Amino acid sequence: MHRSIIRFAEQHWQCPARCVSSAVRRRKVLRSAFPVLDQPLLPIQRHVYEANLRHSIACRKKYSELKEKVRKGGGDSGIARHTQRNRKLLVRDRLHLLLDDEDFLELSPFAGLGLPYGDIPSAGCLTGIGRINGLWCLFIANDATVKGGTAYPITVKKQLRAQEIAIQNRLPCVYLVDSGGAFLPLQSEIFPDKNQGGRTFYNEAIMSAMKIPQVAVVCGSCTAGGAYIPTMAEEAVMVHRIGTIFLGGPPLVKAATGEEVTPEELGGARLHAEVSGCVDHFAWVEKEAFDYTRNIISTLNFQLPEEEEGVKKDAGEEPLFSSEELLGLAPQSYGHSLDVKMIISRLTDGSRFQEFKARYGTTLVTGFAKISGHLVGIVANNGVLSRDAALKGSHFVQLCDQRDVPLLFLQNTAPAAALTLSAAQAEANGNRLKAQGSMMSAVACASVPKITVVIGGCHGADSYAMCGRAFDPNFLFLWPNARVSLTAPGHAASLLPPDEEQQEENLNERLKEESSAFFSSGRMWDDGVVLPQDTRKVLGDSLDIIKQQRYQLSTEKQRSVVLRV
Ligand code: COA
Repeated sequence: MHRSIIRFAEQHWQCPARCVSSAVRRRKVLRSAFPVLDQPLLPIQRHVYEANLRHSIACRKKYSELKEKVRKGGGDSGIARHTQRNRKLLVRDRLHLLLDDEDFLELSPFAGLGLPYGDIPSAGCLTGIGRINGLWCLFIANDATVKGGTAYPITVKKQLRAQEIAIQNRLPCVYLVDSGGAFLPLQSEIFPDKNQGGRTFYNEAIMSAMKIPQVAVVCGSCTAGGAYIPTMAEEAVMVHRIGTIFLGGPPLVKAATGEEVTPEELGGARLHAEVSGCVDHFAWVEKEAFDYTRNIISTLNFQLPEEEEGVKKDAGEEPLFSSEELLGLAPQSYGHSLDVKMIISRLTDGSRFQEFKARYGTTLVTGFAKISGHLVGIVANNGVLSRDAALKGSHFVQLCDQRDVPLLFLQNTAPAAALTLSAAQAEANGNRLKAQGSMMSAVACASVPKITVVIGGCHGADSYAMCGRAFDPNFLFLWPNARVSLTAPGHAASLLPPDEEQQEENLNERLKEESSAFFSSGRMWDDGVVLPQDTRKVLGDSLDIIKQQRYQLSTEKQRSVVLRV
């Protein structure tokens, strides 16, 4: 055992975190002069562009309508109950007080819309990433205007995904707790299984062990399971009069013991700050609680490069073409796809792109670029993922893994799998299958961060090789025109026996309804719908967020404890 501890210590002694951070101080990015992708819109492409544009405008309208719906949370009566009767701040106002600025990457804002059990705006819980004192933190904030902040199955899924993002990117986590616990009518879908309610608390423990800081602010009810969130966080703040923590409320006490007790006496901020010690900071009002929280974040041992050098972050050269043109490049269907390099040239710094294997497997475009100053390897569909394209994809993904360069997948997969109608076709499909399998392995095993944006279709096995949800990208976003289904609408025939016209029609109709980006996002198969023109900003922020873990110094202590042993 002694030997294994020494070996562990030796392994980690090679590069302690402080050594990483002093290297940061000296770090100088390699000069690059990648070629410019000159991809203006040509007259011959205009009719496709115009059709896409009309479709994108319709999608944007739907996007804005849903945004508005989500912004209203539980509606006028829920807001009145929350602000007037319960005298609490709305969840977005809370975030406003906590964050440095408006820069907030909201995750899955449409989660909860259009579910079999109704519309649950924001899934009753806002999640996202914003900065406190310059440090990106992940926020999980109940919206109590939606059924008292109770947890529906989709709420649990959203919280777990947010924690997963915090774990994968080592982001400090701030919980704003204001919840009546489980939504009881759906308890069977919330409580018993592995990835349900209890997993939140399991994750809290694991995150603490991983030295991912967690802070809770009790600014409302913390009933039943909700009570464990602040008690398991490393530091908790609680607000006088509006915060309560108890397993069962006053009605339960009355029923069990006959005693009359107020919520404040049973589990208010005074009780928990002065008697039980469940929370560490007492705040008279919400604003004070958020000031405490900002100060707590300052005690985390991170050293950000800008702070050390006083150098302004490199925002990167703007692309040569307007990002608004992405609306006309976002394909309304696979048949309306233009050369994906036109999209790349509207996302990358200075529209620059160092292409890899430009003449081989041309239905997949691979190469290096910078986005807001961050070097990335781009893998973009430009047609069917053929054998050659998949082999090229494997090669490039392994190359990026070897060089530690994050990967960006731009996904627009073929609408349906190729049918096997002849011996030659069978051989071609077999070869393609092997090559795609190899690309899937390369993607699954690459240990670099990955971001996927579905810019068109997300169908069948092509989407796995292109780092779909099951392949664990750090972030997965959709454009509003995206379609997510096993087979694209209109291609149901590939799934059915011949001469089943009625069934085919029904299935196509169903695929049409179920493949929309909003249907997908309502169920949280992604981290949110982003508008094409906002994509560069979202990618820049995501890459910045992913990089932040390099600046955490407190991971060092874990190693020196082992050395001391
Ligand atoms: N399950 C299902 N619905 C719940 C709920 C729960 N656990 N808790 C609250 N609700 C519903 C209420 O029925 C009400 O629905 P309505 O708008 O259709 O009338 C809505 O959420 C708001 O509740 P209300 O009590 O009016 O709001 P409030 O702000 O005064 O109080 C709570 C909110 C959460 C403090 C309070 O409702 C409460 O204590 N709920 C019970 C919590 C509990 O015992 N949880 C145990 C879960 S294991």
